[in-house]
Amino acid sequence: MSGRIPDAFIDELLQRVDIVDVVGARVALKRAGKEYQARCPFHDERSPSFTVVPQKQFFHCFGCGAHGSALKFLMDYEGLAFPDAVEALAAQVGMKVPRAEGRAAADDRLAPLYAILAEAAAFFREELARNERARAYVERRGISEAMVERYGLGYGPDRYDALTGRLGKSAERMKQLIAAGLVSQRDQGSPYDKFRDRLMFPIHDRRGRPIAFGGRVIGEGEPKYLNSPETQLFHKGRELYGLWQARQSAQKLKRLVVVEGYMDVVSLAQAGVEEVVATLGTATTREHVELLFRNAEDVVYCFDGDRAGRQAAWRALESTLPRLTDGRQAFFLFLPEGEDPDTLVRAEGAEGFRRRLGEAMALSDYFFEGVAREVDLSTLDGRARMASRARPLIESMPDGTFRDLMRDALAEKTGSRRAAPAAAAPAAPARRPAAKSLQRTLVRSAIALLLGRPQLLSEIELPAGLAAVDRPGADLLRAMIARIQSRPLITPAELLISFEGDPAFDALSKLALVELPGDEEAWREDLSSALQRLVEQHEAERLQVLQRKSSAGLSALEPGEREELKRLLVRLAGGRGAA
Ligand code: UTP
Ligand code: MN
Repeated sequence: MSGRIPDAFIDELLQRVDIVDVVGARVALKRAGKEYQARCPFHDERSPSFTVVPQKQFFHCFGCGAHGSALKFLMDYEGLAFPDAVEALAAQVGMKVPRAEGRAAADDRLAPLYAILAEAAAFFREELARNERARAYVERRGISEAMVERYGLGYGPDRYDALTGRLGKSAERMKQLIAAGLVSQRDQGSPYDKFRDRLMFPIHDRRGRPIAFGGRVIGEGEPKYLNSPETQLFHKGRELYGLWQARQSAQKLKRLVVVEGYMDVVSLAQAGVEEVVATLGTATTREHVELLFRNAEDVVYCFDGDRAGRQAAWRALESTLPRLTDGRQAFFLFLPEGEDPDTLVRAEGAEGFRRRLGEAMALSDYFFEGVAREVDLSTLDGRARMASRARPLIESMPDGTFRDLMRDALAEKTGSRRAAPAAAAPAAPARRPAAKSLQRTLVRSAIALLLGRPQLLSEIELPAGLAAVDRPGADLLRAMIARIQSRPLITPAELLISFEGDPAFDALSKLALVELPGDEEAWREDLSSALQRLVEQHEAERLQVLQRKSSAGLSALEPGEREELKRLLVRLAGGRGAA
């Protein structure tokens, strides 16, 4: 694993991999002609400006400017150093990475850092074995010897120079200890141990190497937990505590349980819930979520039932939605106030906790509960507010059946989709009060029908001449038709919501609530005839105007009007002939 990777190898590697596979395995790509598109994984966006060009084997984001090869993508997306990305790609296509002599690769640069972290972990373990006070604390917390072993727990002695005294004799070593985040130095003062009198939880990377630590104060003290700072090896938004151990516990994980604390992980594992990880005192990031789902199909988030826990859960949900490709499932488990998984599993046993896991709330239920919070769904305003909260979140999801189902569910809940025209429909009041005050016009009828059943549009023939109709609302009707034509599978709710911000939005929301009499067949005919009659009415009016104007002779008409009159007369004659 040492030495520089020859350029020729990189070229060959990039010949063999297909960037579409590399990106497609991580981001939901959608084909667009010769290219593929997605919402950019490197910045937040609603519409896809991230493009993969297979012919050129590169990606480019028109939103944030990110671009490069498959290798660059892997580095940016997985947070890998260049040699690691090369290794990963090479492994995928079964190539072995040759190493040339020469300039040291990044691996070599980081090797001393890994080494010193491993030495520190060993040192802390020894100290735990030796220190009465620390052992008593471990016992008081009910942590078994097996868990001390499994998680490599240790103890940072209550001194400023324990670690430095043992590992940092030379200036070079001292510099490494500082770079590893184990030793602090203020201004030009002398370096000192960062973790003192703390129970040490090593954080392992994907290969089981310690890359950072969390240290819990023994007994009382502030801060309760001290974590390693971000270093070249450690980025807390990308790491999950306990993932290494969870992966060791099973060939293939069906599920991962996500908790908030180090102690929660250890206690659950001890109780037999071994598929457990913790975020490291931070919000759940999208990178966390991707990492979770790369290791298991199901993810169960456990949060406190209090306000802070609910807030953290909602953040987790926001990070999860963009990663919910079909086949992945997320659940939320809220714990009773004052409890955490550690206390709960000790009180209720593994069985009790497993039962709670089994009863966790599906993401979709939690989602709709969340967007409906403090919203009165019996009012139009309330439903519109819920829709506007829900929409951007649903649109952040990758393409797939699950997103479609979420859209449908939203439509259902906002009432913008009419109940199926079943004969068995309950004898509900025929119309809501709002509907009564609406005056029925052809334009309104057509809009109401389209709002209720956008797909009707594809089942009828649009009358020629619709473009010329100029009565109130006709522009809106045409805009709606165009929108449905451009997105033939649009749902009623989406159609409505797509007019948010339009002056007509309020009127449309009301129209969307009008109960449509009759059945699907009748609606189709109604729509077809409403459009037809609109055009006929318009043409009849025009005919009148033009005929009146021409009563003094055709020369009173503009050339264009003359053409129009001729066309209308022919059309009318044709219509009569056919009748
Ligand atoms: P908690 O305060 O819930 O602690 O913090 P805990 O896990 O229940 O710990 P015990 O049972 O009192 O030992 C949850 C997590 O938040 C992070 C840690 O990752 C902790 O495990 N945290 C908490 C910090 O990083 N710093 C702190 O000062 C407190
Ligand atoms: Mn706790």
